Amino acid sequence: MMDMETVRKNVLAISGSTRKKSTNTYVIEWIKQLAHDQFEIEFFSQLDSLPHFNPDLDDENVPDLVAELRSKIDQADGVIICTPEYVFSLPGALKNALEWTVSTTVFSDKPVALITASGLGEKASEQLSLIMSTLGAHFDQQTQLLIQSARSKVDADSIDPSTRQHLAELINAFNDKITPKRPTF
Ligand SMILES: Cc1cc2nc3c(=O)[nH]c(=O)nc-3n(C[C@H](O)[C@H](O)[C@H](O)COP(=O)(O)O)c2cc1C
Repeated sequence: MMDMETVRKNVLAISGSTRKKSTNTYVIEWIKQLAHDQFEIEFFSQLDSLPHFNPDLDDENVPDLVAELRSKIDQADGVIICTPEYVFSLPGALKNALEWTVSTTVFSDKPVALITASGLGEKASEQLSLIMSTLGAHFDQQTQLLIQSARSKVDADSIDPSTRQHLAELINAFNDKITPKRPTF
């Protein structure tokens, strides 16, 4: 029989930055490494292929990729969003993806970890928190993190010790909040 402790939780990760060498995407890669024993992380890589949100398209025949995103969120035990701040707000691509979930319940009571990795990032962090609480997601102070001056702290090959420690603490708090959907035995 499988030991409950060995079952990794199914987590969807979304980076608010779609650029290739994104610090936020590197943060997700570090989380994958640090949380290897707790989480099986799927990275949603098609944020920039989602159509622009339009309420007229938000019916029973939504575009395929929108349906796919909704289903991945719905099926995940938890969702990690890691984003930069763009002009004191969320990047449009991330805001667009979140707008596609407003008419659904996919984020209702969903455990989420909310990370803002940016130069400054305070406004984006506040807005992300407001949006995700509006969508009914489940998070608290322990599952939110603001990484300022992020580019000097995280890259593909290195992470500063204090940021690594903050991510480890967030991972533990997030893990405690997630109840896996699938049976564990
Ligand atoms: C269009 C644009 C607007 C930006 N506006 C802000 C901002 O308001 N606050 C901030 O802290 N950084 C801002 N930045 C800098 C980003 O935080 C920084 O480039 C960050 O590394 C982007 O995240 P990424 O490395 O994951 O792509 C901006 C960058 C761009 C490209």
